[in-house]
Amino acid sequence: MSSTPPNPPDLVSRPAVVVGGNSGIGLEVVRRAAVTAASVTVVDLPDRPSAGLAALGGRVRYLRGDVLDPGSLERCFAAAAEDGPVGSVFVSAGVTLPGSLLDVSAEAAQRCLLINLMGSVNTLKAAAGSLAPDASVVLCASVAAYTGGGYVGGSVYGASKAGVIGLTRGAARELAGRGVRVNCVAPGATTTGMVGDDPGVIERLSAKTLLNRLAAPSDIAASVLFLWSSAASYLTGATIDVNGGSHLG
Ligand SMILES: NC(=O)c1ccc[n+]([C@@H]2O[C@H](COP(=O)([O-])OP(=O)(O)OC[C@H]3O[C@@H](n4cnc5c(N)ncnc54)[C@H](O)[C@@H]3O)[C@@H](O)[C@H]2O)c1
Repeated sequence: MSSTPPNPPDLVSRPAVVVGGNSGIGLEVVRRAAVTAASVTVVDLPDRPSAGLAALGGRVRYLRGDVLDPGSLERCFAAAAEDGPVGSVFVSAGVTLPGSLLDVSAEAAQRCLLINLMGSVNTLKAAAGSLAPDASVVLCASVAAYTGGGYVGGSVYGASKAGVIGLTRGAARELAGRGVRVNCVAPGATTTGMVGDDPGVIERLSAKTLLNRLAAPSDIAASVLFLWSSAASYLTGATIDVNGGSHLG
C-alpha cells in the first residue's frame, strides 16, 4: 500500500502578485494575501496606490504597470521575484463595456478585448520566468462569458471573458509540465466601482441571482485564495463560478 504524500507547501505563504489589485476584487485579494504571503506585489495603472491599498503597508509593494505593456509587466514580476519565486498570481485587471454590439465603437470594443484578454495573455507570458515550480495562477472571467453580457458589460465584454476561460484551459495544459496550475474565477455582479452604487441597478442585478444579492469582493477573493492554496493542488484548467447562481438564469 502506498503511503500518503505530504501536502505541498501552502502557496498562500509565497510571494504573490495581484495585477489590477489597486481596487475592487483585486484589492480584497491583496488584503487577504497580505496576512500570510511573504510579500504581495500589486501592479496597476495609477501612479500611486489607492488609500485602501496604502493602508495595508508592510508586505505590500505597489508598482505601476499596464497589462497592455509587456515590458512593464516583466519589470514588475522581476521585482516581485526578488522576494523569492512567485507562488501566487491573480489577474484582476479588467474593464467593462456596457452597451449593445451595434452601438459600441470599434475602438472601445478593441480596448475591452485587449485589456481583458490580451492583458491576461501578456501577464502569463511576463510571469512565466518568475514563477515557482508549483505556482498557482488565477485569471478572472465573468458570468458574462456564459450569458453574453447583460449583467456587467455587453456582448464584447462577454466575449472577452469567454476568451479568458479558453485561455485558462490552454495555459493550464501548456504549463502543467512545469507544475504550474492555471485556474479562473468567473464572478457574477460584485459590489465594486465597476457596478457602481445606483440602488436601482443593484436591485435589478440582485434579482437575477438565486441568492438575491450581489457578490461582495470577499466572496470572490475567498475562491482566489482557495485556488492559490494547497487545498486546490489537484485543480487546473478549472473555472469556479462565483455568481450566486445567476448563470442558471
Ligand atoms: N464587479 C463586477 O461585477 C464583476 C463581475 C464579473 C467580473 N468582474 C471582473 O473582475 C475583475 C476586477 O473588477 P472589479 O469589479 O474589481 O473592478 P475595478 O475597476 O475595481 O478593478 C479593476 C482594476 O483593473 C485595473 N486596470 C484596468 N485596466 C488596466 C490595465 N490596462 N493595466 C493594469 N491594470 C488595469 C484598474 O485600475 C482597477 O484597479 C475585472 O476583470 C472584471 O471584469 C467584475
